[in-house]
Amino acid sequence: MAATPMPKRLPEPIINENAKIVLQRRYLRKDTEGTPFENYRELFWRVASSIAAEEKKYADSVYTVSKLAREFYDLMTSYRFLPNSPTLMNAGTDLGQLAACFVLPVEDSIEGIFDSVKHAAMIHKSGGGTGFSFSRLRPKDSVVGSTGGVASGPLSFLRIFNCATEQIKQGGTRRGANMGILRVDHPDIMEFIKAKERDGELNNFNLSVGLTEAFMRAVEKGEDYELVDPKTGLVSGTLNAGEVFGILVQKAWESGDPGMVFLDRVNRDNPTPAQGDMESTNPCGEQPLLPYEACNLGSINLGLVYAAGQNGHDSEIDWDELKRIVHLAVRFLDNVIDASNYPLPQITETVERNRKIGLGVMGWADLLFQLGIPYNSQKAVDLAERVMKFIRDESRAASKQLAKERGPFPAYADSVFGKADLGPYRNATTTTIAPTGTLSIIGGCSSGVEPLFALSFVRNVMDGDRLVETNPHFETALKNANAHSASLMEEVAKKGSIASMEFLPEDVRRVFVTAMDIEPMWHLKMQAAFQKYTDNAVSKTVNLPNEATQEHIREIYWKAYEYGCKGVTVYRDGCKSSQVLCTGDSE
Ligand code: CDP
Repeated sequence: MAATPMPKRLPEPIINENAKIVLQRRYLRKDTEGTPFENYRELFWRVASSIAAEEKKYADSVYTVSKLAREFYDLMTSYRFLPNSPTLMNAGTDLGQLAACFVLPVEDSIEGIFDSVKHAAMIHKSGGGTGFSFSRLRPKDSVVGSTGGVASGPLSFLRIFNCATEQIKQGGTRRGANMGILRVDHPDIMEFIKAKERDGELNNFNLSVGLTEAFMRAVEKGEDYELVDPKTGLVSGTLNAGEVFGILVQKAWESGDPGMVFLDRVNRDNPTPAQGDMESTNPCGEQPLLPYEACNLGSINLGLVYAAGQNGHDSEIDWDELKRIVHLAVRFLDNVIDASNYPLPQITETVERNRKIGLGVMGWADLLFQLGIPYNSQKAVDLAERVMKFIRDESRAASKQLAKERGPFPAYADSVFGKADLGPYRNATTTTIAPTGTLSIIGGCSSGVEPLFALSFVRNVMDGDRLVETNPHFETALKNANAHSASLMEEVAKKGSIASMEFLPEDVRRVFVTAMDIEPMWHLKMQAAFQKYTDNAVSKTVNLPNEATQEHIREIYWKAYEYGCKGVTVYRDGCKSSQVLCTGDSE
């Protein structure tokens, strides 16, 4: 749809140094020589104007296209909200694929499997990530009817997907990310659990074991459980649930993989059960989807809704501003659905039927720093619930407003909302918490709902580029406490954490905690607090120190189940040879 021409007096966005590197590498449009032919202002205007242009279709809109384009531009260039990377890269371009998250089915046939490999390649090329369940594939060594030979099983096919991904770099720059899921009652589950035990194996995949309530009950009781051949539906053997759980814990302790996803719980929250089960999530786990479904995400920077206390009042959140951002962001994300070209007709159909969007947050640790609330405190967990409840309620209100202007999502009548007469809503889901790996660099904020990895650190990005970053709130706090000095900053950059620096004021040490200072249970409580009010799921890593035992991981897995999380990912410091983020010490 034709976009509004760029107004002459459009303000120039302020881009931080790290963002410049990322935007130049991946986001600015380039000619065939690889030279950018748009500047930062043109990039954000391209996105704002093309997403706003969709508004033309809706006669009952409360906005004009040009006014909305300008609001979207201001929203993004103030970094209050950013849409997921494919939207920034591809909006207003011929490719026009704008969603980050896809789930593809893998059928139990050679044709089905290789269709899926091809579809994944098409999605990776456009900057999207793919999730697959391999649970429908018949187990290794079972008979193949057409040839009388034996099947090679899910793991050997997983390697083909991995290899194909290796060859296709997304959008010419970033490598595709995948999620592979296998149900715990698949006969090949033990091989799957051990699949990444060698470093570098299946490096383009995150793996998660799909756990069921029945399995968790069997673990509790120390009972055996049945393995079911998906092809025949027959029981092909039994395993002891406790032993399987133990090996799962051991492998996660060794390498961080596999994670877990609670499939029954994911499906309990399925808003459109009439369309079947959700069997997989996107690569980072925050977005469960139906087969051939996609979802676009966007994140609000919470660090920017901080309101400093006035006239002796405590610092707070600017709730009116947050509400304004949520409503505008929901309109943005709903327009993205219309503006996006999906790589397959089946995907277009499913997306347009359910119109899922995933609005989430980043800058959570920045907000806590400003409010002076330690991440590892009940106060922070309570505030997380309050903030996310507010965002979910307001995003649903915004979705209702859109339904008035544009009609509900087509599958509404058959959805849980339609059946309970709760709507009408424009979107089957509105909230997801993404990792915001790149968005947080562009926004210059802490990522997702994670604590900082380090107060000052060296970030390794793409092809060995190194970026040095110190948290600005930390610098301000040190200056206010008259404790700032160049030598101290160097020391902090080396250590990452200030936990052992007893000469620093106690309140500064309490508030400025990093991922490794935080007890794993607080990580989990924070994940659960955000999950409570998130329609889809929450991307979060539970960080553990190197000396954590398997027993610690077992406890976290179990508590994740009890706290109502949809999945869990643990990471024990130093357990993999290459880390995305490094403190100075680990260089
Ligand atoms: O910050 P950005 O929008 O680039 O992405 P993110 O929030 O870190 O990740 C969101 C989702 O984008 C992931 O769960 C994947 O579905 C997808 N993604 C991908 O496919 N490939 C990557 N290299 C990074 C993210």
